[in-house]
Amino acid sequence: MKATIAKIFLFMLAVVSLYAYVGQLVPQFEEHPPQKKVITTETPKEELVASGQEILRGKGGCLVCHKDQERGNERGPDLRQAAGKAATRKPGTAAEAYLIESLVTPDAFLVEGYPKMMPPSMKPPANLSMAEVKAVVAYLQSLGGAEVTVKVEAADVAAEKKSSGPVHRGKALMAEQGCVGCHKVEGEGGEIGPELTKVAERHEPAKIAQKIADPTLWTAEGFQTGLMPPRPDMPEGDRQEIAAYLAGLSGKSYSPTGTASPWSHEGVRLGAVIAVFNIVMLLVLGWARAREKSTLSPGPSPIEGEGRNTAGAAS
Ligand code: HEC
Ligand code: HEC
Repeated sequence: MKATIAKIFLFMLAVVSLYAYVGQLVPQFEEHPPQKKVITTETPKEELVASGQEILRGKGGCLVCHKDQERGNERGPDLRQAAGKAATRKPGTAAEAYLIESLVTPDAFLVEGYPKMMPPSMKPPANLSMAEVKAVVAYLQSLGGAEVTVKVEAADVAAEKKSSGPVHRGKALMAEQGCVGCHKVEGEGGEIGPELTKVAERHEPAKIAQKIADPTLWTAEGFQTGLMPPRPDMPEGDRQEIAAYLAGLSGKSYSPTGTASPWSHEGVRLGAVIAVFNIVMLLVLGWARAREKSTLSPGPSPIEGEGRNTAGAAS
C-alpha cells in the first residue's frame, strides 16, 4: 500500500516537473523590434531604395495604376520614366521636389493626357509616412537610373512614430500607472524623472522591470532619490510588459525567460495546482483505505464481505 502511494507520488512528481519544464520553455513576454524595416535618417541609400520598392509594390498600392516593371497597369504613367521626366515636368520645380509632390499632392500637377485620379499617398488607403514617401522617391530615382538624392530628415521619422498602429500594452500601462506624469517617453510626459525613451540603452530590460518594483535599485544621475514611488504590488507581468515596451523603443529584443521569477510562468502555476490536487486525492485515497481496513479489522463481517464481493464481481 505504501509502495503504491510512493509510486503514484513519484509519477505525479514527474508529470509536474514536465509541466514546469515545458512552461519554462515557453517565453511569456517576448518583444521583437518592429518587423517592418524602420526607416531612419541613417538608412543607407540601397536600403532606402529596397524599402521604397517594397512599399510601392505592397502597401502603397501603386501598381494598381502604374508599372514599375512589365507588371502593373497603365492608368497612370509608367514609373520607369518618372525620375527622368521629373526635372522638366513642372516648370520651376526640381526633379526631387516634383516626385515628392506627385505622391503627396498628386492633383497639384497633372501629367498631360491623364485624369485626376491618383489618391494622395499620405492619406488612406496607402497612408504612407513622409519617410516612406521619401523611400518610394528613392526607388523611383534608382529605377530611372538617376542619382538617389532624396534624404530622410529627422522630422520625417518623428512624424512616422506618431502614425504607428496599435498601442503597445506596456505603453498603455505606463499611462495607467502614472509613469508618464514624471517621465517623458517618445516625446510626451513629465520632467520630474529622466526621459525613458532610450532607457533600455542604459539599463538591461530585466533591471528596469526590477526598478519599477524597487526604485532604490539605482538612482539616475542628476535626479533625486526617493521621488519615484515603489510598486512592489504591481504584477510582475505588467512590469515585464513595460520593460519590454521600453526595450523595443531602444530597438532591443527582450524575452525575460529565466530572468523572471519561475512563479510567473504558467507552467509552474499549473503544475502547482495539479500537485495540490493530486496530494489531496492521495490523502483522500489513503484515508479511505485506512477506514476500510479499520472497518475490516474487528473481525470478518459476512454481510459486509459478501456485499463487497458482489460489488467487485459486478464491476
Ligand atoms: C488610382 C490610380 C493611381 C494610384 C493608386 C497611384 N497613382 Fe500615381 N498617378 C496616377 C495618374 C492617373 C497619374 C497621372 C496624373 C497625375 O499626374 O496625377 C499619376 C502620376 C504619378 C506620378 C507622376 C509621374 C510622371 O511621369 O510625372 C508619380 C511619380 C506617381 N503617380 C507615383 C505613384 C506612386 C508612388 C503611387 C503609390 C504610392 C501611385 N502613384 C499611386 C494614378 C495613380
Ligand atoms: C513621482 C514621480 C515618478 C513616478 C510616478 C515614476 N517615476 Fe520613475 N523615476 C522618477 C525619478 C525622480 C527618477 C530618477 C531617480 C531615480 O533613479 O530613482 C526615476 C527613475 C526611473 C528609472 C531609471 C531611469 C534611468 O535613466 O536610470 C526608470 C526605468 C523609471 N523611473 C521607470 C518608471 C516607471 C516604469 C514608472 C511607472 C510604473 C515610474 N518610473 C514612475 C520619478 C518617478
